[in-house]
Amino acid sequence: MKIAILPGDGIGPEIVAQAVKVLNVLGEAFEMETAPVGGAGYAAHGHPLPEATLTLAKQADAILFGAVGDWKYDTLERSLRPEQAILGLRKNLNLFANLRPAILYPELAGASTLKPEVVSGLDILIIRELTGDIYFGKPRGVRIAVDGDFIGEREGFDTMRYAETEIRRIAHVAFQAAQKRDKRLTSVDKANVLETFQFWKDIVTEVHRDYPDVALDHMYVDNAAMQLIRAPKKFDVIVTGNMFGDILSDAAAMLTGSIGMLPSASLDANNKGLYEPSHGSAPDIAGKGIANPLATILSAAMMLRYTLQRPAQADRIESAVKKVLSQGLRTPDIYEAGTTKVGTEEMGDAVVRALN
Ligand code: IPM
Ligand code: MG
Repeated sequence: MKIAILPGDGIGPEIVAQAVKVLNVLGEAFEMETAPVGGAGYAAHGHPLPEATLTLAKQADAILFGAVGDWKYDTLERSLRPEQAILGLRKNLNLFANLRPAILYPELAGASTLKPEVVSGLDILIIRELTGDIYFGKPRGVRIAVDGDFIGEREGFDTMRYAETEIRRIAHVAFQAAQKRDKRLTSVDKANVLETFQFWKDIVTEVHRDYPDVALDHMYVDNAAMQLIRAPKKFDVIVTGNMFGDILSDAAAMLTGSIGMLPSASLDANNKGLYEPSHGSAPDIAGKGIANPLATILSAAMMLRYTLQRPAQADRIESAVKKVLSQGLRTPDIYEAGTTKVGTEEMGDAVVRALN
């Protein structure tokens, strides 16, 4: 089994190093190869997704990804910006299914900005379509308007679109995930306004016929945003498009107190996957040794479960993370009075110790 290690920018290298440390003590013969991506890719090879990095990602069985982005690169033209690396990997490797669990560990109930009774025991799964929608729809750009109320003016435009196949395949992933959980699926759309999402709703409803054991409901995205804050525990699995999923998954992440705790998996049709923390590159704290490595370590656990078919090893890592939390160890993002503040490395070492 070969794992491509793509640390990226900002805190990426520090947190990925901790996950690699954890993978190395499992007693498995994983081959790991590292390559630059994002701003680091641009610095090394003049492109955020260098050819060699893409080739490695294609060859590998799984990819462990840190984060990309740094203010240094914000003035580059869009095609050279760090974010293009992750978008390019998703598209090139057909990683259409993004799984973002939001789980609140009991020890961290006080870290949420919501009342403990609203979030305690939270365990929801957001499934975001990842290779379609307005993110990738063409045409897009800036042009002179030839119609509408502002003819002759410059206008920016993007295209929202979903093909039937794209909706069907993500719906199947979502129904199957719901079957393994509480058998409840909420499809989030904006069918009251957008043609694309009326179509989405119709197709999800059709796919539902194959999964009579799953209860399906539909919710408009604005209401879903409200319900996520009001009564998040009412959800089990949520499935939605790329744009809405981007926004709702950040909101869901904050229910748990810290986005520093949340892993994610981006899978293709054969369960090959890219695994990354749900948070970004946090350039403001890069190099300070204070970033929380747990989301990346938990992403490595998801990799063991979904792609590498080592569920027992995934369980081991998740138990080790629970153990260090119950020992009271906290990086600054989840620190509360009465707990022990530790840095990135110390947290990684503690997980390694808890594994043994
Ligand atoms: C995410 C991020 C990315 C996205 C950015 C970095 C392109 O926000 O993974 O949610 O918008 O998908
Ligand atoms: Mg996002």
